[in-house]
Amino acid sequence: MKITVVGAGKYGSTTVQRIAQAGYADEVVMTDIVEGLPQGLALDMNQSRPLEGFETRIVGSNHYGPTAGSDIVVVTAGKPRKPGMSRMDLLTDNAQIVGGVAREVASSSPDAVVIVVSNPLDEMTALFQKVSGFPAERVIGQAGMLDTARFQDKVAEKLGVSPLSVEAITLGSHGDTMVPVPSKVSVEGKPLGELLSDDEVEQLVQATRDGGAEVVALLKTGSAYYAPSSAAAKMVAAVAKDTKDVMPVCAWVSGQYGINDVYLGVPARLGRGGVEEIVELDLTESEVEALRTAAEAVRSKQADVDGLV
Ligand code: LAC
Repeated sequence: MKITVVGAGKYGSTTVQRIAQAGYADEVVMTDIVEGLPQGLALDMNQSRPLEGFETRIVGSNHYGPTAGSDIVVVTAGKPRKPGMSRMDLLTDNAQIVGGVAREVASSSPDAVVIVVSNPLDEMTALFQKVSGFPAERVIGQAGMLDTARFQDKVAEKLGVSPLSVEAITLGSHGDTMVPVPSKVSVEGKPLGELLSDDEVEQLVQATRDGGAEVVALLKTGSAYYAPSSAAAKMVAAVAKDTKDVMPVCAWVSGQYGINDVYLGVPARLGRGGVEEIVELDLTESEVEALRTAAEAVRSKQADVDGLV
């Protein structure tokens, strides 16, 4: 099993570390345009192997040669947000970067399952699929796992319970039209609506939507990477190990939830082929409506992106 991570920034390198430490891959290749950066990080991570007890080999490179024939490629390339920026402000710059990566990956790893994490997430996932020409089930975006984890953590902090006791799911876009789904939140089996008022739930929903910006405002020099890399690594593991786990991911929707032909955050079953099934949850009418609004927002932005590459 060979896995490539494109981009050796904080998000990329932390993702490499998490995948390598999990031990199921033979090799993880990290590429970046900055000379020496991926090589230095790879050397450092390899030297943690005797201490951490894993054998996965980590390779750093400034070109795509060593990535050839990867089974899975994670795309983290692109600029992160600065305080005050929305993810959408990155659209033009990152479209050029992600478009270039898509062309390289299409020729070096034509059979790979690709997980995109670059922002704005939904648009960059769609752009990668279009430029690479890969079948849509092999190009997936990471956002729902991260947004869900943030929702779970906010609920746990509010109620003073373990974050592991909170079930939740977040759909829609990785942006203003994110759709945290309160009707599907439960804490130790109890519905959230029995534990908090509608106003309190709405505050948690908004805090989840703002979760990324909250970290950016504090860090000032970049965006979050610990939880994002955990989320990406979970998706990589599901594909690599063919688990068939259902996860909220950005996937190509064609008819489910009454939505057609757009990349959107939905629950999907992941396996060795990428997205194996879009799962249709039983949502409330207002949740479905919010999902459709998110779909139209992504679709209209997508038209702008198509003009950029
Ligand atoms: C975030 C960025 C990575 O939500 O999109 O933190």
